[in-house]
Amino acid sequence: MKKAFIFDLDGVIVDTAKYHFLAWQNLAQSLGISFSEEQNEQLKGVSRVRSLEKILEWGNKTISEEEFTKLMTDKNEEYLAYISKMDVTEILPDVPRVLDYLISKNQAVALGSASKNARIILDKVALKNKFQAIVDGTNVSKAKPDPEVFLIGAKELGIAPEDCIVFEDSVAGIQAANIANMISIGIGDASVLHEADYIFNDFTEIKEEFINTLVTTQKV
Ligand code: BG6
Ligand code: MG
Repeated sequence: MKKAFIFDLDGVIVDTAKYHFLAWQNLAQSLGISFSEEQNEQLKGVSRVRSLEKILEWGNKTISEEEFTKLMTDKNEEYLAYISKMDVTEILPDVPRVLDYLISKNQAVALGSASKNARIILDKVALKNKFQAIVDGTNVSKAKPDPEVFLIGAKELGIAPEDCIVFEDSVAGIQAANIANMISIGIGDASVLHEADYIFNDFTEIKEEFINTLVTTQKV
């Protein structure tokens, strides 16, 4: 059977969540808004625009459109400075093993990320050629938990949504996969990702037997 395996990027393939956090934290600080790791959890998988809106809501702040645009640019410039130093050592453990296994089994593999920087990051960590389709923040109009990003990925691969499996580290991403009627696999903390069909701490826990089961299972 042929399935599509759709990978989120930030926090699934690479640990860029820490760079997003640092950049948002600096921005919040400059506005005098306190910003905790718990709040950061709510920004995972969320678009750049929506993230800034949420931070401003938490801080009860209203700003002009010009300032909003400037803050988004500043945040992204700081983030780009962090990712410019990335290399293959930042790929999360066993991600290449799982990707290569799926490819060797003739399964379709796609990227489904909210980030507009996804292609830059895939280049930095030399993984771009593993993906048959790349859908990122430049291709979507609706942010996770809207399923658009994953549905476009499925369409590009020519695989029905119920034959897709999504790897995600964010609550919004798990919800998006579930809404799309895809199998959702949470990568991270089970207490946060409890809406997922399956949850693992990281890819080292994802064995070939489990992948083989996924290839023969359909979401009910
Ligand atoms: C998601 C991240 O993958 O991409 C979010 O989890 C981020 O934290 C979003 O805000 C948008 O990313 P970017 O790189 O376009 O700012
Ligand atoms: Mg993510």
